[in-house]
Amino acid sequence: MNPFIQKTHRAETEEKALLERLDRNNLPQHVAIIMDGNGRWAAQRHLPRIAGHRRGIRSVREIITFAREIGIKALTLYAFSNENWNRPAKEITQLMILLEHYLNKELDTMMKNGIRLRAVGQIDRLQDSVSRLIHAVEEKTKENNKMTLVLALSYGGRTEIIDAVKKVYKDLQTEKLSLKDLDEPHFSNYLYTQDIPDPDLMIRTSGEIRVSNFLLWQVAYTELYFTKTLWPDFRKKDFLLALHDYQGRERRFGGVTGEEND
Ligand code: IPE
Ligand code: IPE
Ligand code: MG
Repeated sequence: MNPFIQKTHRAETEEKALLERLDRNNLPQHVAIIMDGNGRWAAQRHLPRIAGHRRGIRSVREIITFAREIGIKALTLYAFSNENWNRPAKEITQLMILLEHYLNKELDTMMKNGIRLRAVGQIDRLQDSVSRLIHAVEEKTKENNKMTLVLALSYGGRTEIIDAVKKVYKDLQTEKLSLKDLDEPHFSNYLYTQDIPDPDLMIRTSGEIRVSNFLLWQVAYTELYFTKTLWPDFRKKDFLLALHDYQGRERRFGGVTGEEND
């Protein structure tokens, strides 16, 4: 057999086995992904960084489709951080063009597959045409209920917390909120992610072991999974491996294991 076909066949069999062994009753409701490594993927091939971002879109499509298929209710993708504004203007422009193309192209699929789009971050910092497009897609998809796709754009966890504190302060001043009511669930309502439950699983690709200012408040009890795979190479099988790893974890939330009291 042609070695390429043989390899694909093996990968498919492996993927199928992973899927069959997956416990459908113990899936994370919300998965957040730090999609990292596009630039390195391109550099390994002596290609410009944008080629890595472009290839990364294939992974985005595959993971969204698959997550929805298996019944994950929310998927958050870290697409552009506050700190990414420090990148060369040319790369930022190329990323924004890619985002516009992607949203224009995917709207039909989102409608067909019942996917609701939510953007989190300082969306108004993006160029007008991009922020208008995002708001339009959010509006058009708002009744879809199979899965929520959260795109973190111009997003920073610390800024999100400061923005929340400012809103809290305003509501205290106007007496919409009283200080004695300010607890964790109330505070969460002031974050960009107000209507989205905290992630159960966070994945970071490319071998970096850090959170890079992502969902700082929300990951308090999230299970973290790191893989060396670069984002453009991250596909269904890699996602399944992360889900299996998650299913092997014991989530204790500060409590103790088992029922016994000794
Ligand atoms: C992640 O890939 C995509 C964005 C941050 C927009 P990178 O562009 O960070 O790729 P590396 O980390 O340089 O390989
Ligand atoms: C994190 O990746 C941000 C996104 C994936 C959008 P970076 O590549 O920007 O993070 P650092 O600089 O390696 O921490
Ligand atoms: Mg990076």
